[in-house]
Amino acid sequence: MMNPAVLTAEDDCLHFADDTVFHSVRDLFLGFGFNETNVRDQYWFSGQPGKSLTPHFLEIEPGTASGLDVLVHLFMGEQAVPVDDIIRILGSRHFLELQELKLVEVDEQGSACSATVRIEPVNELLICADRSPAKPPVRSDAVYRPWDISSQLYSRIVPPTPCKTFLEMCCGSAYVCLNAAQNFAESVCGVDINPRAIRFADFNKKLNGIENVATYCGNLFQPLQSRLFDRIVAHPPYVPAVADSLVYKHGGQDGERISADLISGIPHHLADGGEFHGFFAISDRIDAPAELRVRELLGPDGQELDVALLTVTELSLVWYLSSMPGLDAKGAEELRESCKKLGITRFVTAAVTIRSRRGSTPSTFRHRALGWQTAAAMADPHTFTR
Ligand SMILES: C[S@@+](CC[C@H](N)C(=O)[O-])C[C@H]1O[C@@H](n2cnc3c(N)ncnc32)[C@H](O)[C@@H]1O
Repeated sequence: MMNPAVLTAEDDCLHFADDTVFHSVRDLFLGFGFNETNVRDQYWFSGQPGKSLTPHFLEIEPGTASGLDVLVHLFMGEQAVPVDDIIRILGSRHFLELQELKLVEVDEQGSACSATVRIEPVNELLICADRSPAKPPVRSDAVYRPWDISSQLYSRIVPPTPCKTFLEMCCGSAYVCLNAAQNFAESVCGVDINPRAIRFADFNKKLNGIENVATYCGNLFQPLQSRLFDRIVAHPPYVPAVADSLVYKHGGQDGERISADLISGIPHHLADGGEFHGFFAISDRIDAPAELRVRELLGPDGQELDVALLTVTELSLVWYLSSMPGLDAKGAEELRESCKKLGITRFVTAAVTIRSRRGSTPSTFRHRALGWQTAAAMADPHTFTR
């Protein structure tokens, strides 16, 4: 297991300046139309799941490039832009503010400027996360990006209906928390074990001018003591690894090191009538299918909770391990052996819903979704009724 104590939020990017600077930079992005609709409509992004997305547009043409082009080029394309073009198109005050927040840095010659982080628009929110390094290794405490495919699906299974107390476990950059706080939840908490993620989350709070989110650095429910929540959501790490090296991704040899503890904690933190929505992989084993394992993990206090799995992929052990990028033959063999010893037959990637309805007979439900969109639609709370 990775020791959280070795993770530190190195101060190599993101500086907390006055609120006025945050406001001005937010206005810069929104003023140039840097929102999800425009960026998705105007740029064509290519990339494989898990890899960075590259926007396709011509080299910045002096004279025709817009502010939106420059911002997308810098913060989503991760490409350098001449300092002169930035000053001319964005203005010198904004260039200084971007430097003050350490969102950009200038090369030694003073001629080209690059972003220190990615900024991805989520609706009208601006979300900083880690850049994809040009070459491995990825830093062990890298902060996960909201436009990655699993985050996209996860965010769609979070019901956007009004709620009083909202908790996002494993919040990373906190874009789901911030969206909840801005649009439908009264009081919001985000927890992450990675200090760098909490630094990004706090920066994103400031950048978006959102107050009603409290962030905590710690292991799962530990920082929250016995607090209860109406809605708990999570997208924990769930990829099996011989030795965990990426905090956002790896979940031990069966991938369930974090999600198993998360599920066990739910009965103690879900308010009466509350709901949990998560997105992760869990295994079918010789002794029980994934949905019954979720029920077992809930323990005796979870006997009154409904459990529903909407599966997106159901892959045999061999298929699952062979579809994992970067896993060499020796690593795959080692994982296969340890998973076989645990009795794992299949890995199921699923939208998992757990809900509290005290006094009624609990149900356990598994349905195979046909695709990402079907999964998102079926995970909608209005269609999930008995
Ligand atoms: C797949 S990322 C998801 C981040 C974000 N929610 C998203 O969807 O983009 C998993 C997150 O879980 C965090 N994490 C890993 N182990 C944890 C633990 N034991 N307690 C709390 N957070 C943890 C990681 O630091 C990472 O930010």
